Amino acid sequence: MIQYVFMSCMGPVDAIYLIPHVVVEEHVVHAANLSLPPPGKPISSSQSRTCRAMFVQGKTAALLAIFAILAAAYVLRLRRSSSRLPLPPGPRGLPLIGNLRQIPSVNPWRTLRAWHLAYGPIITVRYGPNPTIVLGSYAVTRELLEKRGSIYSSRPRMVVVGDHVYGGRLTSLLPYGARWRAQHRVQASFLNVRAAQKYHPLQDVESKQLLWELLDSNDFPAVFTRYSASLIFALAYGTRITDGAIGESADFTRLMEDILREVDGNPIVDAFPILDCLPRFLAPWKTRGSRLYRRQVQTFEKNMEDALKTSAWNWTKAAFNLKDAKHLEREEMSFIVGVLHEAAHTVPMVLEVFVMASVLHQDAVRQAQEELDAVVGPGRLPTLNDMPDLPYVNAFIREVFRWRPITPGGMPHAVIQDDEYMGYRIPKGATVVVNHWSLDLDGELFDDPLEFKPERWITNPDVPESVFGFGRRICPGRHVGRNSVLLIIARMLWSYHIGHNYENGKKHEIDPWDMTQGPDSRPMPFKASFRIRSPEHREVVEREWLDSEKDVDVLLEQIASL
Ligand code: HEM
Repeated sequence: MIQYVFMSCMGPVDAIYLIPHVVVEEHVVHAANLSLPPPGKPISSSQSRTCRAMFVQGKTAALLAIFAILAAAYVLRLRRSSSRLPLPPGPRGLPLIGNLRQIPSVNPWRTLRAWHLAYGPIITVRYGPNPTIVLGSYAVTRELLEKRGSIYSSRPRMVVVGDHVYGGRLTSLLPYGARWRAQHRVQASFLNVRAAQKYHPLQDVESKQLLWELLDSNDFPAVFTRYSASLIFALAYGTRITDGAIGESADFTRLMEDILREVDGNPIVDAFPILDCLPRFLAPWKTRGSRLYRRQVQTFEKNMEDALKTSAWNWTKAAFNLKDAKHLEREEMSFIVGVLHEAAHTVPMVLEVFVMASVLHQDAVRQAQEELDAVVGPGRLPTLNDMPDLPYVNAFIREVFRWRPITPGGMPHAVIQDDEYMGYRIPKGATVVVNHWSLDLDGELFDDPLEFKPERWITNPDVPESVFGFGRRICPGRHVGRNSVLLIIARMLWSYHIGHNYENGKKHEIDPWDMTQGPDSRPMPFKASFRIRSPEHREVVEREWLDSEKDVDVLLEQIASL
């Protein structure tokens, strides 16, 4: 997920070797253009020697240039950072590469948590020459990201994805300033808490389709992905995705996969942004990035034009009618709406954690079902209006958010002016990361933090949550996202026994710690089975789906009239 590109996805150990490899490749291409015979003709020995010499010289020159740039950046950084107060403490690193080699690529947040235990709730970690300040407690996070939000709400520069792949148009990576505010205002106009309440009719029908699909399928990741894509596509562009693989959405998914590959492949440039000054032939990420950018412009603009032609209300039309949007270019408008489709991929991730938790914690599921049976009964599906009467189901959902944070390393903020805190210096431009893992597994706030215990939220409802981030960059889609998660989890618990999957009598075991690595974290693919709780429940699921209004124009007009 592109919005959550952050330092812990750097693949730190291998990253440092990446650029020379790329440089070598570029020289092969370059040399071939100049002196190699056409394909099929043998190369002469003198041509071969010339090529080899060019290749070796080019490679050496490129390596020397890179080394000189990195050394200059390092010295400059050292000079600038001489001030009376120390940086927050942290593990000693190596010159230039800092702590890159000490941070494992698997579960790096556990290492960060161990460092918090050793050095305190605010620590300095270096991914390259730049200091990253990592926050490991709610108290520190609140103080800096929320109370001092006017200076802690920027984003660090992400060269590859921010500048090249998204051409400086991705809201979640924009520095704090006029452009971010303009984009944020447009998005907030249709994602705020009041607007989110109006989307219930669409969430209702999409979740009924989800329940109905699970009657005949155990492919829950596909079912969740369709839900999320369809909800956002319908709101943004006025088209529902009924079969999980229609054109624009499938193209979009492919585009996102290509973008993720690009992000994962070029971490060194983000650690040393000065490398972006290299000419294009030594910086292949620039060409690949602008190709991806052009693909996005085409996709987003086509979706936008289609949306403007539909008969009913949608976000694209609403955005064009806003006073705030009058001065924004058309291409920028297409991005403001387009990137939300991608941001909403978090909902299926949370739902997969829910399935994993349900299979592994049948007692908690039983308790939630008893509550649903008592409050809702067997004759109808639960709705969002029932949620205030379902304390255990609400607690179950909050525990899903906490138990396996889907952005365990948080999304990086950046500080825009020098600051001081607890006797430490936080230099202007530093990246500030919240280690959600430390917050959500804090033994002082949560007893037995590794256990899945929904009742903790009933005993202590005021414990804070980190799932949607902090301060002025807190997730603007949180109301829509939370409503989706509440409705689907309540309805799935009401309808299904969710259990282990068996094949030829053999149980598919689930490793509760087998999570994807990278900026966001979801369970690695696993199997589960969904068995309807009774014929009566089946009858309700089928009837509710068959009877529901499915015409997207009617649903959107209903939303517009609320
Ligand atoms: C359960 C679902 C979701 C979760 C757990 C989630 C989580 C997050 C988190 C942790 C952040 C970073 C906050 C920070 O920097 O402190 C974020 C940012 C963001 N989210 Fe979500 N999100 C969810 C759903 C959505 C949805 C449905 C949308 C849009 C329809 C959305 C749009 C965004 C955007 C645009 C940002 C960037 C904000 C900025 O930098 O200004 N999210 N989200």
